[in-house]
Amino acid sequence: MPCILLIAGSARGGAFSVRLRDAARREVAATGATAETLDLRDLAMPLYDGDLEARGGVPSGARVLRDALAAADGLLFVTPEYNGFPTPLALNAFDWLSRVPAEGDAPGGLSATANKPVALLASSPGLLGGLRAMTLMRQFLGGNFQMLVLPQQLAVSKANDAFDDAGVLKDPRQQQTVADMARRLVALATAR
Ligand SMILES: Cc1cc2nc3c(=O)[nH]c(=O)nc-3n(C[C@H](O)[C@H](O)[C@H](O)COP(=O)(O)O)c2cc1C
Repeated sequence: MPCILLIAGSARGGAFSVRLRDAARREVAATGATAETLDLRDLAMPLYDGDLEARGGVPSGARVLRDALAAADGLLFVTPEYNGFPTPLALNAFDWLSRVPAEGDAPGGLSATANKPVALLASSPGLLGGLRAMTLMRQFLGGNFQMLVLPQQLAVSKANDAFDDAGVLKDPRQQQTVADMARRLVALATAR
């Protein structure tokens, strides 16, 4: 069975995107696939700065992200929305990733994502549920990072009231969509 990496674009304690990531993780695991999560805060990456890179190369967190993506057969990414955009935390992590060179058997950052499937979800307390940020992540990951973005997607609006105490989406149609997307992602990751 394939390995699916799940990442949320927020480091905040109690983040809605982390709750949605965990709801998706359970659905991925239910398919029998391996579900791995990665917390972007743990990568402790500084804001990208070409002078920093020239002095010290890429930070170790960028290699951790590269290795996690290289080991995965697919990615599920949950984006929050800041001013209509994905979070700087997520964009910065992928900017550093794109600067990781190939090293021995380990691929360069861009090769670690190329031709791998990615499922996109979004969440926000607002009415659009992070839809605008998700559209940009589709372009970002599908374009520069050459990922195969699933056509299905889900934006969970009013995310502050969307989950029950067990972390399950209260709207059964939304929970079903997450389950369907998990199955489609695992099927694509298996077919690679
Ligand atoms: C700087 C900033 C900008 C924001 N802009 C938006 C926005 O454009 N659209 C939206 O729906 N919510 C916006 N929000 C509210 C976030 O959706 C909310 O803080 C959410 O909880 C963040 O995601 P998280 O729960 O996964 O950390 C913004 C929040 C911050 C801090």
